[in-house]
Amino acid sequence: MLALPMNLDRQALLDGLQAFLRIPSISTLPEHQPDIRRAAEFVAAELRAGGLEQVRLIEGGGNPLVSAEWLGAPGKPTLLLYGHYDVQPPDPLDEWHSPPFEPTIRGDDIFARGASDDKGQTYILIQAVASLLRDTGALPVNIRFLIEGEEEVGGEHIESYLKAQGRNLGADAALIADTELFAPGLPTLCVGLRGIIYTEVEVTGAGHDLHSGVYGGVAPNPLQALAHILAGLKDPQERILIPGIYDRVRRPSPAELEAWARLPFDEEQYRIKEVDVPELVGEPGYNIFERTWARPTLEVHGIRGGFTGEGAKTVIPARATAKVSLRLVPDMEPEETFRLFSEHVSRLAPRGVRVRATNLHGGGPSVVDPDNHFIRVAAQALDEVFASQTVYIRSGGSIPIVGLFDQYAGIPSVMMGFGLPDDNLHAPNEKFHLPNFFLGMEAVRRYLEMLGQ
Ligand code: BES
Ligand code: ZN
Repeated sequence: MLALPMNLDRQALLDGLQAFLRIPSISTLPEHQPDIRRAAEFVAAELRAGGLEQVRLIEGGGNPLVSAEWLGAPGKPTLLLYGHYDVQPPDPLDEWHSPPFEPTIRGDDIFARGASDDKGQTYILIQAVASLLRDTGALPVNIRFLIEGEEEVGGEHIESYLKAQGRNLGADAALIADTELFAPGLPTLCVGLRGIIYTEVEVTGAGHDLHSGVYGGVAPNPLQALAHILAGLKDPQERILIPGIYDRVRRPSPAELEAWARLPFDEEQYRIKEVDVPELVGEPGYNIFERTWARPTLEVHGIRGGFTGEGAKTVIPARATAKVSLRLVPDMEPEETFRLFSEHVSRLAPRGVRVRATNLHGGGPSVVDPDNHFIRVAAQALDEVFASQTVYIRSGGSIPIVGLFDQYAGIPSVMMGFGLPDDNLHAPNEKFHLPNFFLGMEAVRRYLEMLGQ
């Protein structure tokens, strides 16, 4: 592992990270509410131990927000550090090589749910600040922390908090560690994200399940109706068939497209090593970066209904549901996109069934203008720590808070993340590359120092 100039107790940092990763703080599963609270308390305790002030849990409609501050650098900028302590469900469990909530180090990687998304990265922010405070007795800039516990489920609590705070948030920019490097060793700033709407489509037929021999011929089949609807959402070329869906899509500028074309990228390696598919799919006429970063997409995540056990059961189910999301790009709007989606779903509904689409959560897309002081200094800090020139990319994932920082608080977000493309986010065997954990900490420290100069 890399030798770093910082005076860090690596083992203590790893122990702390492992304790964090052991808490199964899965925000989407109600039975994990006690773990959500434990994770929030853990974050608060680390902030307190790190010398931060005014550490508190902000209670509200949803999972607690953890906030803290250190405002001892008058005249210097105030940076708001954001991360999330909630994680995605770990299933399918049998595909993990070590249990998701028993963090395990193999080689240079630590494996656990949340290792890189986002506990490992949140921990980088906390420990970068704590170690700087410990080593120098003060911070070069003012710091606020805002760590949330429902990023993976849309982040309603932080949205209402930000709405209420508005321009009184008291920060000049946000630093977000929840993204990834474009390639190992290549310092990266993310300057664009897709938005999302996450929906559930429910199809109901008869008032109760029916014998398929006795009623087949007269009763509508909700599962097949659902299959028909889902099949009508995209064409075989992956183009979304919802009328109007592409109307607001803004193409990246020629300069941005040229910069993407210069990124070090081997499509065949990507196909084989990272995606592991016989063939990449997607809209014709757009390259991989455009397809994953700058075009809307639609995915079905799960389908439920009818009989799926061992053996056979002849039944016409009364009900079927599917989870479907769309990724949004500038200038698409979540509410309008949901309206277009649900209108199209209604149009596709066959006779005899009732169809209802529900909007579970959403967040807008965002692009950040890289030509601002906070991003320029971030690139300098990364250049120095990684000894390589920083690249600017977008990501296909969503961090709804980025658009909200801009909208409600009027501040830019610096997305400085240290994950890797093969970290298996949301999938079995999620990992975090430990050299990136330490390099990330050094980069954040250096960034704060340079901002304070
Ligand atoms: N950290 C991810 C988003 C991300 C992934 C950004 C990779 C850049 C590169 C974030 O925690 C996430 O997964 N967000 C959810 C948000 C949604 C559920 C509202 C997502 O994108 O699915
Ligand atoms: Zn995530």
